[in-house]
Amino acid sequence: MTIDTHIHEFVPAQTPGTPTLLLLHGTGGDEQSLFPLAPRIAPGAAMLGVRGNVSEHGSNRYFRRIAEGVFDIDDLIARTQAFADFVLSASAYYGFAPSSLIAVGYSNGANIAASTLLLRPGVIQRAVLFRAMLPLEPEQPPALQGTQVLITAGRFDNLIPHESTDRLAEILRDSGADVTLSWQNVDHRLTQDDLHTAHQWIAHQTGAQKDG
Ligand code: MLT
Repeated sequence: MTIDTHIHEFVPAQTPGTPTLLLLHGTGGDEQSLFPLAPRIAPGAAMLGVRGNVSEHGSNRYFRRIAEGVFDIDDLIARTQAFADFVLSASAYYGFAPSSLIAVGYSNGANIAASTLLLRPGVIQRAVLFRAMLPLEPEQPPALQGTQVLITAGRFDNLIPHESTDRLAEILRDSGADVTLSWQNVDHRLTQDDLHTAHQWIAHQTGAQKDG
């Protein structure tokens, strides 16, 4: 087990019984980028911020791209596998159960979370994907029964093709995941509405988990 494969920062929970947020930045961010937003999504939750291993002219990313929205699929697959291994190792090292983990990713961070859902089902069981697209068409349908996903998408987002977001939601649903897709009148940037929608969704998820 090694957790040295990815630069990361773990902040323990301040409120017992809260989830652990796996925080995944957009292109050019780092392991701390989503820390200021996390308390608005899940107050008191533990935070695991992870930095993407790829540098694109100095901007951190989780996998290589050939052009905007055109991904290097071999690199994406290899990085997704290494990322999934890291998440499992971090779970054992920091002592949180995979079932308590909620991935929260923005843009490129949402896309690595999506590829992890598709290629390594079970590693991420709940995910909030802000401005995600379909990173790749999986060769085999993943088994995603019991997986919960919230996608918030922007109607005026010029970086993320609408049909790609729709296709991601469709594949996840066809694979058994419970998917909420929320289209908003916004562009690529995160808004208060995104945070509010995520907060409500997580409160519902964690409440349902406690009740169930
Ligand atoms: C990606 O490369 O993952 C998407 O195009 C979003 C981004 O610009 O990071």
